[in-house]
Amino acid sequence: MHSVNPKKITSLEPSSNDTTSPLDLYALSPETIGIMSYNELIGLVRETNRPPGGSNAIMEIAHQCFLNPSKTVLEIGTSTGITAIELAQLTGCKVVGIDINENSLAEAQERANRKKVGHLCTFQKDDATALSFPDESFDVVFCGNVTSLVSNRDKALAEYARVLKPGGLLAAIPMYYIKEPSDQLVDDVRKAIRVNITPQYRQDWEVFFKISPFVTLSQSNFCFDELPAATVDAFCKTILERPHLQSLPVHSREALNKIYTQYMQLFRINLAHMGFSTLILRKESADIDAELFTSTKI
Ligand SMILES: C[S@@+](CC[C@H](N)C(=O)[O-])C[C@H]1O[C@@H](n2cnc3c(N)ncnc32)[C@H](O)[C@@H]1O
Repeated sequence: MHSVNPKKITSLEPSSNDTTSPLDLYALSPETIGIMSYNELIGLVRETNRPPGGSNAIMEIAHQCFLNPSKTVLEIGTSTGITAIELAQLTGCKVVGIDINENSLAEAQERANRKKVGHLCTFQKDDATALSFPDESFDVVFCGNVTSLVSNRDKALAEYARVLKPGGLLAAIPMYYIKEPSDQLVDDVRKAIRVNITPQYRQDWEVFFKISPFVTLSQSNFCFDELPAATVDAFCKTILERPHLQSLPVHSREALNKIYTQYMQLFRINLAHMGFSTLILRKESADIDAELFTSTKI
């Protein structure tokens, strides 16, 4: 298995690039690239970073949240914006996408403009744990798997509840292990994403989201497909041939090819151990009894 540059990465905190202005490609040294987290690399290579479940999950959530042009959605950790853009294209809803990474946000806005939904999508820098929006601003909050990257998850969840209108919906797609990972694998993922994760299992997320004012309306469970290493290599090659990356100095390009491919091969192995759930929760008023006689699809 590939091991992720253990010598160079000394801290699990986001590196300074996570919050700086858009990157100057000509000035990127191999050393700077070598210490970038995967989330920073997404903005640099302009990857179409999807939530777990990809287009199917986005489609399912658009349906299950009854999105239409009258609805306003907040997407947490939008990265390069694909979910926000798809939701706007599919349903005509308005979407605000937030992230802490400005490079990804710049790419998101350009994509939305190219896809002719720039007027429906707004992207801005904001933190899931301290949202800058007034109470009860949104019909839907979409948080993909982003909550797992946030150190103070309880605070993030409280923020999602605060900015949702009464009766508003929270769509979450938490990822979890369905096969126990080795300590080495978890440690390599920590270094790649610069987050001090502890392995989460399905029940951990069910307990986390089962908290007032949220009530679970629906849940579907999935596992990731296993992929051959060659498929991942071919995907990386295509991404790294993008015209804008050709202006990188040659050694920086080599460093980028190495680390991006290394991370994607690591995720291939990690995701073969993982599943995810699409969850729709409602911000419920206190005057409704808990659902007692629950059921399971057979
Ligand atoms: C893997 S990416 C995108 C995931 C994808 N949009 C999804 O729905 O699962 C995770 C993103 O979350 C962002 N992020 C991490 N911590 C955050 C925080 N506290 N507030 C907002 N965004 C955050 C990262 O910068 C990154 O762009």
